[in-house]
Amino acid sequence: MARILITSALPYINGIKHLGNLVGSQLPADLYARYMRGRGNEVLFLCATDEHGTPAELAAAKANKPVADYCAEMHEVQADIARRFGLSFDHFGRSSSPQNHRLTQHFAGVLAQRGLIREVQEKQVYSNADGRFLPDRYIEGTCPNCGYDRARGDQCENCTKQLDPTDLIDPRSAVSGSTDLEVRETKHLYLCQSALKDDLDAWIDSKTDWPVLTTSIAKKWLHDGDGLQDRGITRDLDWGIAVKKGDEDWPGMEGKVFYVWFDAPIEYIACAAEWAEATGNDWERWWRTDKGADEVRYVQFMGKDNVPFHTLSFPATLLGSGEPWKMVDHLKSFNYLNYDGGQFSTSQGRGVFMDQAIKILPADYWRWWLLSHVPESSDSEFTWENFQQSVNKDLADVLGNFVSRITKFCRSKFGETVPEGGAFGEQELALIEELTTRTRAYETHMANMDVRKSAQELRALWAAGNEYLQSAAPWSTFKADPQRAAVQVRLGLNLIRFYAVLSAPFIPDAAERMLQAVNTSDTDWPDDVASALNVLPAGHEFSVPDALFAKITDEQREDWETRFSGIRD
Ligand code: 2FM
Ligand code: ZN
Repeated sequence: MARILITSALPYINGIKHLGNLVGSQLPADLYARYMRGRGNEVLFLCATDEHGTPAELAAAKANKPVADYCAEMHEVQADIARRFGLSFDHFGRSSSPQNHRLTQHFAGVLAQRGLIREVQEKQVYSNADGRFLPDRYIEGTCPNCGYDRARGDQCENCTKQLDPTDLIDPRSAVSGSTDLEVRETKHLYLCQSALKDDLDAWIDSKTDWPVLTTSIAKKWLHDGDGLQDRGITRDLDWGIAVKKGDEDWPGMEGKVFYVWFDAPIEYIACAAEWAEATGNDWERWWRTDKGADEVRYVQFMGKDNVPFHTLSFPATLLGSGEPWKMVDHLKSFNYLNYDGGQFSTSQGRGVFMDQAIKILPADYWRWWLLSHVPESSDSEFTWENFQQSVNKDLADVLGNFVSRITKFCRSKFGETVPEGGAFGEQELALIEELTTRTRAYETHMANMDVRKSAQELRALWAAGNEYLQSAAPWSTFKADPQRAAVQVRLGLNLIRFYAVLSAPFIPDAAERMLQAVNTSDTDWPDDVASALNVLPAGHEFSVPDALFAKITDEQREDWETRFSGIRD
């Protein structure tokens, strides 16, 4: 039994996530966590809301709520939706937790002691009306290049020119619209990542089994241009973790907070501490290599835009501390999922959001489509047509139909108990051989986090059972040889349990209903397929379940296509 720590990128607090966010981190992480638990490993699966930064402050202001209240409410909303999608976190924490405050300040303290934080005097735009410094992208004005009147202080989205706030003509605050702005001197802290460049380079080189997507992004930031740059890790905001060295104040940094990307990954550790406090467990054996975490395998899941922070900045924090922290062993990153010819967009409200999705169909429909089309080797696209086809074919026609046919047939001819019938014949043995080969392949793909290949193999496992049933045709056999039909039916009923166990990481609710139908809580992994297909003995009672999956009709598809073609209000 191995000990596996799994984290999914932490969703920002400012709003409900869309399906593109879900498929890029939380959902594949859940798949892996469920699979690893199913194989009998000790798993700690953590996620949390990422609660700091300007977007959180602004979203709270828009909702007309104090930011702490807004975050507390949105955390509950996100936790509830995560539950409804079957995301099986052991703990869903908050980056604003006291544990994260303490740890973030701790890291800043040790990094400063080791000379890895430097103070930098900077010029920044201050808004008198808002009473705060404005980050570059919260200053708007007219682009000096193309004349677009809503260019942001970091870039003009009309002509893409990179800008400094001082380049803007008639600059104004994007928060209040005020033009009463001035440039003030302010001090910030920088993490000296450049000093750790060689250590990071060597560490990344040691990760020979990482996906190319992950290492190529990391290497680009290490070597392109001037190489790895030091990063500002403080901001002039009210909401966030106060800048301190451990417990001590940091002279000159009063009123400032850490940059959200400094404290967010530290929440991976703090989240374990939150979990431990809530459950009476020990978090250090998951995170401190001097306390047993050297035996842990740590896997992170995230979208490609998050890779630089996880391969460089966060490792720089951990390595730079000189303390024995567990570092990530495998980093699985994803491309983007697009929506019907364009991009999913939170700011523009484009696409399908988790709360909307779960209102129209149960989680398993989404889980199956998203995981079997996960943007692994390239970006992929959600279309309603493809969604309808996949659900109807894979889930309804293949798996759902199999379960329904075999249970109904058995009930009509043998009653609601597993029939006896004798030993498996040649056809059954051939099926067992195919299932064995495919199950071993499925295990390999799942262990390697090859999500699409895993889904393909699972689909092929379902199809093999369906084809067997089709060709064995117990409904025909029954007339001439009821004993033989009984053997076929016994195998078919056992296949339901077998499929439930294998499919649970993808479609946990349907798997649970399949187990209930065959009246068992035996979820032992089919290490030996032949014995797994004998778990339900003759005489074992079962019941015919309601249809596992309903087909998506053309009317539904058209209705959803129209409903989700616009912008969310
Ligand atoms: O991109 C995002 O959604 C970020 N909130 C991910 C943070 S991951 C971790 F470092 F906290
Ligand atoms: Zn422009």
